[in-house]
Order: sequence, then C-alpha cells, then structure tokens
Amino acid sequence: MIAPFQIASGPRVRFGRGEAAFAGEEARALGIKRPMIITDAGVASCGALGPLTRGLEKAGLDFHLYDQVEADPSDESMARARKTFEGSGCDGIIAAGGGSSIDTAKAAGVLVGNGGKIHDYYGFGNVPGPLPTLITVPTTAGTGSEVTCSAIVTDSIQKIKAVMASPLMFARVAVVDPELLSLMPTPIAAGTLMDALTHAIESMTSRKANPWTRNLCLQAIANIGQYARRFVENPADPEPAGAISLASTWAGHCFTNTSLGIVHSLSHPIGVYHHIHHGTSNAIFLPPVMRFNLQAVRGDYAQIAPLLQNPSEADRVDPRDESAPQVAINSVRSLVRDIGISATLREAGITSEEGFETMAKDAAKSPQVLTNPVHATEEDMLSLLRAAMNG
Ligand SMILES: [Fe+2]
Repeated sequence: MIAPFQIASGPRVRFGRGEAAFAGEEARALGIKRPMIITDAGVASCGALGPLTRGLEKAGLDFHLYDQVEADPSDESMARARKTFEGSGCDGIIAAGGGSSIDTAKAAGVLVGNGGKIHDYYGFGNVPGPLPTLITVPTTAGTGSEVTCSAIVTDSIQKIKAVMASPLMFARVAVVDPELLSLMPTPIAAGTLMDALTHAIESMTSRKANPWTRNLCLQAIANIGQYARRFVENPADPEPAGAISLASTWAGHCFTNTSLGIVHSLSHPIGVYHHIHHGTSNAIFLPPVMRFNLQAVRGDYAQIAPLLQNPSEADRVDPRDESAPQVAINSVRSLVRDIGISATLREAGITSEEGFETMAKDAAKSPQVLTNPVHATEEDMLSLLRAAMNG
C-alpha cells in the first residue's frame, strides 16, 4: 500500500530551447509592467541574457538590470537588491542566473513584500505575505532553485548558511531554456551538475521521499549518468544540455518536497568558511556520505547503480547483485574524476583541519539532518569532514 503523501507542484514550468525569448510575454501576461532582472556580473556580461532581454523588448517591457549578485549571497547583498528594487520603479522580478541569483531574487522579494530583516524569515513557513511577481530563468543546470520555494542565505553575523522556505516563495513561472547553458565555463558546468546529482540522490533517500519524488529522482539520476560527461565536454550540444537541464529541474522539484541530506549539511559550512563552489563541495562529500548511509539505503543505491555507470562501460551491474550498492558509490567517484573537479577537500585547497570542529557543530544543527536516512551526530560530521580531506 502507498503511504499518504503530499506534493507542492510549484511554478508552471516552460521548458525548451529558445523559450527564454518568451519570458517577456510571460511577464506581461502576469501584469508586470517593469521587471527588475536580478543576475550577477558574469552572466550579465557573457551574453547569456540576450534572448531574455530581446524578448522583454519585443513584449514592450522596459526593465532594470541589477547585476550585483554575489556568490554565496549574504543577508547584506540581499538587502542591497531589495533597496535597488524599491528605488527602481519596478513591479516584478525576473531572476536570471544560477542559484545565487535566484536565491537573492527570492530573498529580496520577501523583504520587498514584508519589510524587516532577512533573519526574521529564516526557517520554514515564516514568510507572512506575498512577494512581487517572480519569474525564474536559470542559466545553469544544478541548483533547481527555479522550482523550489527556498533560498539559502549566508548570514554575515552568525557565519552560517541559513535556509528560508515558504510556499509564498515559489516563482509564478520557471522558464527553463537549455540553450542558455551554452556559454557555461566547464568548471561551472561540472560543479553545477554535481549539485543536481546530489539533490536527486539525497531527495531519493530522504526520510520524506515518496513514490512521486522517487520516480522523478530516478529519471534525473539516469539522465545525469547518461549525459554528464558529454554535457561537460560541450554544454552547447543540445541533447546533453536538454537532458541535464531537465534532470536539474526535476531534482529541484523533488527536494523542495522532501528536503535533502547531510551532504548539504556539510557543504554549507564549507561554503561559508572556505568559499568552495557548492557543487564541488557536494561532489567531495557525496561518496563518503553515501558510504555512511549505505546500510540504511542499500536497495536505493542498488537501483541507481546501473544508471550511474559510465555509459561506455560494457559490463552493466545487475541491481540484484550484492555489490550493486557499492558500484553506485564507485560510479559517483568515477564521474567526479572524469568531469575534472576536485574529489577531496585537499584538492580543493584546504590544507589543514583548522575549523573542522566548528563546521561539524554547524552541520549537526542543520535541518537536513532530520531527513538524512541515518542520524548523524556532531562526531559523525567531524569524521566525514576528515574522510573528505583525502578521499
Ligand atoms: Fe544544492
């Protein structure tokens, strides 16, 4: 029998190559007269936003471009985006970029709609009123933030990554256009897809997983297993870009319903203290965390093992084999190596264990501990940090 479950379906998704050109039409249909585009300087200057801005012009919409989003956005940077919005005469937001841009847009929107300070809204369900109308247009494939109702804030005082989540933070429309991935630099393509893979695996094995999310996660993992290497080689190639883009959005939809696991608990403090790219730190922590969780989710890992094997391997593992769960972990390691990102904290530039105790403490207090399949203590987090040091 299927146990009862609920799904928040999130924004309407408009998916396909060339669809970014219709974001202007969507904005106008939603009653936006002057949108503020929230993005970062890199995305704004590389030409990735051309289809979006041309679409806005075609729809007859004047817009304000805010390109000051920072990586791992702080509460202060989100407050600056809010201030700009309030002085710009804008009446809606188009978040265009990676997770940092989309999270900044959501948080700035919460502040515009509700006043106060960003830390007033940390946690789940603490946003009392609506945001300005929000459209999301991802230019990376990994974060899934375009379809989630949460944002991650780097708190400048407490030195933590805080989660704020509310059904009111869903965008109205997510325009997912794989063509926008064409200009992604290889390290970003590799890092972000590892974020998507981590979302899919952590959502599938979450204590809150259900048949709806499990099936979508399986398909997301299959897409990544099949296309990750080709995507990193050439993000402009339509077939892999479409498959990875879809996987990322599916995984985002799933984890906004199930939450995540302790790869994210560990990645967040590493991001705060060492500024390692979120997808790269996920890639580093995923194999040791999978090993930590192994006994509780052997069946899940056995199922994903053949999906994650390198497509060029002739010998496919049978999910019924005793070795299948371990093959899943080994296949994640091979993928990380093949797409050329750091596999250990040391490779990512961390040379000592200084600060590990603080980070273990922060990780153990994170909300993702509650949905990880195995309970992790502060000591476990410390061991996992040490295991990730040298792989
Ligand atoms: Fe993530």
